Amino acid sequence: MSTLSNPATLDPAATPDARPVLLAVRNLGKRFGGLQAVSDVSLELRAGIVTTLIGPNGAGKTTLFNLITGHLTPTSGDVLYQGRSILGRQPWQIAREGVGRTFQDLRLFSRMTVEENILTAMEHSAWLWQPGGRAAARERADKVARILDATHLAPLAQSRAIDLAYAERKFLSVARLIASHAKIWLLDEPASGLDPRSYDRFVALLRAQVAGGVTVCIIEHNLDVVSNVSDRVAFLDQGRLLAEGTPRDVLDDPRLASIYFGETA
Ligand SMILES: Nc1ncnc2c1ncn2[C@@H]1O[C@H](COP(=O)(O)OP(=O)(O)OP(=O)(O)O)[C@@H](O)[C@H]1O
Ligand SMILES: [Mg+2]
Repeated sequence: MSTLSNPATLDPAATPDARPVLLAVRNLGKRFGGLQAVSDVSLELRAGIVTTLIGPNGAGKTTLFNLITGHLTPTSGDVLYQGRSILGRQPWQIAREGVGRTFQDLRLFSRMTVEENILTAMEHSAWLWQPGGRAAARERADKVARILDATHLAPLAQSRAIDLAYAERKFLSVARLIASHAKIWLLDEPASGLDPRSYDRFVALLRAQVAGGVTVCIIEHNLDVVSNVSDRVAFLDQGRLLAEGTPRDVLDDPRLASIYFGETA
């Protein structure tokens, strides 16, 4: 297994399954009392591609994200980022190392403006309240302007997050990820509830970011979205990883389809 310590070594021509591994979970397990929410899951997220996690409600998808980002402690197994274990670190430490995420409930600073939400997500050295002279301030402002443009939020820069429409709040959560310079994005149902125009914008934004070197793992329920955006697909059911492969491998498997749609085969 090759691991990625330097994203600059990424070969854009490499097929998705030949890319270096940026983040790997090894035999990961999480028990909540009597419920085994995640069970012996091993999965590799390869650099510069989109891996999608699918599975029925309650399959353990969000729990898997929580285990990776330090919001939950695994009962067993390990999480390797750039080849090193990140087990036991705090969520903020893992985020600072470049593992970014969004939440199903978005978790923005609702009373802050769009611009302030972006500034607070920027790397430590660019914090709003940190001195740095005029050049640093100008650089920060330029960066915020670019992020606002990329996420179609420029006209709303001074609006409070709480006053945004749902799709705009979703774009703001992605804007914060761009600002944070996360190397890997874990997105929990980012496309759900988007109107068609916002959805198209989201896909275009995602593709541009992936082309720029960002690695993505998405939890997604809509199978049209899954086949549209994924390079690899992983299927979870009752905490177990049942399959991992190309979108066609996974989506065309009748056994998985019957589990996904709750039908008897
Ligand atoms: N903090 C917790 N305490 C107890 N049980 C939990 C906790 N978090 C999740 N669970 C349970 O673990 C299982 C997996 O939940 P999880 O949220 O990971 O599923 P999911 O695949 O993200 O589902 P959905 O598609 O509905 O978002 C569920 O049965 C859920 O009720
Ligand atoms: Mg979930």
